Amino acid sequence: MHESLAGKIVLVTGAGRGIGQAIARRFAEASAAVAVNDLDSDAASASAASISDAGGSAAAVPADVSDSAQVATMIDTVTDLHGRIDVLVNNAGIVSPMLHFFDADEAWWRRIVDVNLTGHFLTSHRVARIMAKQGGGSIINMSSGGATRAHRCFTAYDATKGGIEALTRAMALDLGPYNIRVNALVPGAIDTSGLSLEERTLRGDNVPLGRVGEPLDMTGAALFLASDDAAYITGSVIRVDGGMLAQQRSATVDIVSVDSFPAVEDL
Ligand SMILES: NC(=O)c1ccc[n+]([C@@H]2O[C@H](COP(=O)([O-])OP(=O)(O)OC[C@H]3O[C@@H](n4cnc5c(N)ncnc54)[C@H](O)[C@@H]3O)[C@@H](O)[C@H]2O)c1
Repeated sequence: MHESLAGKIVLVTGAGRGIGQAIARRFAEASAAVAVNDLDSDAASASAASISDAGGSAAAVPADVSDSAQVATMIDTVTDLHGRIDVLVNNAGIVSPMLHFFDADEAWWRRIVDVNLTGHFLTSHRVARIMAKQGGGSIINMSSGGATRAHRCFTAYDATKGGIEALTRAMALDLGPYNIRVNALVPGAIDTSGLSLEERTLRGDNVPLGRVGEPLDMTGAALFLASDDAAYITGSVIRVDGGMLAQQRSATVDIVSVDSFPAVEDL
């Protein structure tokens, strides 16, 4: 355990698994008290228990980040427990199902926007008030390469991630005077779904550092942005992608092939 976040209260959304869970664990190792949110309450409880079993301080606060009433209850639970929130990591996000634009419908679009973008707003809107009253805090949003480089059949997802980066900059301006820093992370191809060795190799070949990322790879930049070492950093977007977005190379790994696109005659 080390002390860089000693005395800090941290809320991580979507921390029942993947990148969110890895960040929650790393923050607990840095002596923060972590509130572990997830839509899946069993996953939130198991994640919090794994942190407590390892000697850290964690509590599960299940909620759907796209539901304002559930978000209000979640944040009230954290402040009832700890009286403050110093760091908010807006990690929760959904990507599936992947749909071609012609196959998409309003419900699909609204669900992804509600979770990925409105979810960032609902949690930040409440937590920022608490941070302003306590003299400051750090908000870390979770973007994607899709904010600047489109994926096939990801129109809603990419739109939300572009929105998250613009939201990050705009929030940084409005909240800077209250000593609230707002930044975003851009994960690369992080294996959170148990890719096969063949898939890991194929995707890794497309990354300058030659491998796919692990959830742990995301935690150092998150810890830095949460810590006082980043006291003069706000409105920034940090890529943690093995150099993937720095390149001009054409992607050799298409998740969706054009052959699967709807035929014009079927439209
Ligand atoms: N894995 C990657 O390669 C990658 C790349 C770029 C960006 N990202 C972003 O990083 C974040 C985490 O990705 P991941 O791969 O760990 O995802 P994941 O699917 O492995 O985990 C996401 C967690 O969020 C939870 N969740 C989903 N909807 C929720 C809601 N409405 N309220 C609360 N929790 C909810 C899920 O239950 C799950 O536990 C996401 O925002 C994602 O868009 C991931």
